Amino acid sequence: MDGRRPRVLLGSTGSVASIKVSALCRLLLHFADVKLMVTRSAKNFINEADLPTEVMPVLGDEAEWRQWRAVGDPVLHIELRRWADVLVVAPLSANTLAKMANGLADNLLTCVVRAWDFTKPLLVAPAMNTAMWASPFTSRHLDTLTQLGVNVVVVPPVSKRLACGDEGTGAMAAPEVIAAQCQKILRLPGQFAPMMPAGPPSDSTSHEGHLQQQEQQQPKQHEQPEQPRQEALMLACAETSTEAAAEAAAVTGGEAVVATASGGN
Ligand SMILES: Cc1cc2nc3c(=O)[nH]c(=O)nc-3n(C[C@H](O)[C@H](O)[C@H](O)COP(=O)(O)O)c2cc1C
Repeated sequence: MDGRRPRVLLGSTGSVASIKVSALCRLLLHFADVKLMVTRSAKNFINEADLPTEVMPVLGDEAEWRQWRAVGDPVLHIELRRWADVLVVAPLSANTLAKMANGLADNLLTCVVRAWDFTKPLLVAPAMNTAMWASPFTSRHLDTLTQLGVNVVVVPPVSKRLACGDEGTGAMAAPEVIAAQCQKILRLPGQFAPMMPAGPPSDSTSHEGHLQQQEQQQPKQHEQPEQPRQEALMLACAETSTEAAAEAAAVTGGEAVVATASGGN
């Protein structure tokens, strides 16, 4: 990075957890320059007046077309993928997850993902209703995503009472946990294996089945020979909530709060 600050490109989607984007931006700004891009749906949850000035202007789909007039003009999604050291998608909606897994590129955020250089880290923090999280689509899409490169990291959602009133897994991990994970990635570029078994453990049998299936599907580069893959994945999961939480204290300079923020998935 030639002595400069790390560059975090934060993409936010139409999950109610986008109400926490301002807090996440402030945490990331402790150790990085941050640009914020949003989907059209995300705008419903983000109050621009709450955002730190450093991340303004917010980049939406219209920004792509505002700066392009003629051949030779810069193309924003290509400029952004070049600028960023890490791409963080938080919160990641079920819809954008599906689009990412299938290579769709119909807005600024998914165009950046489609053009992403997978030698650089991609960190995603899914957030959705617990029924969406438990859907078999979710595990398929996360599987596909984590197999795109060794630098794809999933910060799993947590269990709590969701904004819709349902109780269960699906709430976005706390901003402190996401920021700490991002900081860790930036310190150790290229060192990361997928963080978790992609997909929701809807029951113990299907979870086990899913892990076995994922084990068979994993390309060689994802294998961690020193311990069985299933165990390794579980350890990685545990690490996300405990070790990263401890590091969150360093990021924030204060008490780490894990998954207790109120409101929002
Ligand atoms: C009030 C409200 C809250 C929502 N919360 C979520 C959520 O937490 N996670 C999710 O995946 N979708 C959620 N949705 C649905 C998404 O907004 C919808 O799928 C949208 O198309 C996502 O677009 P995007 O992925 O381009 O941002 C919510 C919708 C509404 C109206």
